[in-house]
Amino acid sequence: MNMETERPIESDHLEMLELPGDFAENAHLYMELMMMYRSAIREVQTKLEVLNDEFSVRYKRNPISFIKTRVKTPESILNKLKTKGYPVTLESIYLHLHDVAGIRVVCPFIDDIYEVSRMLTKQDDITLLQTKDYIQDPKPNGYRSLHLIVEIPVFFSDRKQPMQVEVQIRTIAMDFWASLDHQLRYKKNPEHAKKISEDLKECADIIAATDQRMQTIKYDIYGDESGNFLT
Ligand code: GTP
Ligand code: MG
Repeated sequence: MNMETERPIESDHLEMLELPGDFAENAHLYMELMMMYRSAIREVQTKLEVLNDEFSVRYKRNPISFIKTRVKTPESILNKLKTKGYPVTLESIYLHLHDVAGIRVVCPFIDDIYEVSRMLTKQDDITLLQTKDYIQDPKPNGYRSLHLIVEIPVFFSDRKQPMQVEVQIRTIAMDFWASLDHQLRYKKNPEHAKKISEDLKECADIIAATDQRMQTIKYDIYGDESGNFLT
């Protein structure tokens, strides 16, 4: 490393960092728990990729456009435990937080969302713990997506551990809206907050209407074939 570009350690800064006595031990166990969540993500992601692959061979199209994954950051984990009034322990993370492992599945059409959800949750090693259908019941701000909390057993060297994963499934259009909403939310100028919220809600509704029309076009093209499984 080039010593000239290395930042000098500011001792004032270091003194402000109060570390608990068992920090080293906890850090190690924390990293192990996060590794377990990453493993759970891999298991569920592989299942989704297999389904997408099989579907594309069978019907010559993909019900999944892309998949994004993330493990919640330590900062965000800490904030959530504190906000919800849970103890800040590893056990508490495991027991109370259902979205440490997150998978976002983006599909071309609305019916693909329900088909992917059905194909995933009917697998016998997946337990569906919770469903929130913000497509049937959009949030008041216009947010739409299907949220599932699933549990999957992950096999480690000495044990089998059930791990929870949050799966958010949405269309490309819903993802487009949610990404921009996410960016704009933190920038909201209080003076214009009401107008901005109304505009965003209107955009969400226009996008939802477009998704419906696209769904109809797909149905006209493919009919019942190629995975229109709404029935
Ligand atoms: P938290 O997990 O604490 O946020 O509450 P909850 O468990 O009631 O969450 P919910 O299932 O409603 O939503 C969880 C996740 O969905 C969030 O972390 C976001 O990724 C996404 N989400 C929910 N509402 C919105 C929204 O209005 N806009 C955007 N962009 N994303 C949202
Ligand atoms: Mg949540």
